[in-house]
Amino acid sequence: MENSEIREDAFGGREPRIIAFLCNWCSYAGADLAGTSRLQYPASIRIIRVPCSGRINPIYIIKALMEGADGVMVSGCHPGDCHYLSGNLFARRRFVVLKKLLSTCGIDPDRVQFTWVSASEGGRFAEVITQVTENVRRLGPSNISKNSKGKEAGAE
Ligand code: FES
Repeated sequence: MENSEIREDAFGGREPRIIAFLCNWCSYAGADLAGTSRLQYPASIRIIRVPCSGRINPIYIIKALMEGADGVMVSGCHPGDCHYLSGNLFARRRFVVLKKLLSTCGIDPDRVQFTWVSASEGGRFAEVITQVTENVRRLGPSNISKNSKGKEAGAE
């Protein structure tokens, strides 16, 4: 049995669940372009459109993982292209810190990925989703929500 088959079995035949926070102005438009261009990418993502990647509170990411997401992706405009000038740069700094926090909490920081996709990069959007899905598939299903619910149940 190939390693990739073992990994697929770990998900019980389902796609990994990945929450994708996309900024309205670039990455969401890139996703739209991928769709209208009929580009194929894994059906693993659930998109949440936000005004700017700088608006994403790290708590949203932690909450997504605790609610059963296997991975979270954040995508904004390329550096220099943010419609609010520096939101994406703030986001990038925030996510460096978040990754360290996840690691400290025993959560593999690779479950959270940050990227840039512009409105004209439908092809890149499809590639990024494929890559992110493959990375999460390699990590296997997340047990973060089970662990957090188990702790809550134990506390009762
Ligand atoms: Fe796209 Fe700020 S508007 S990252």
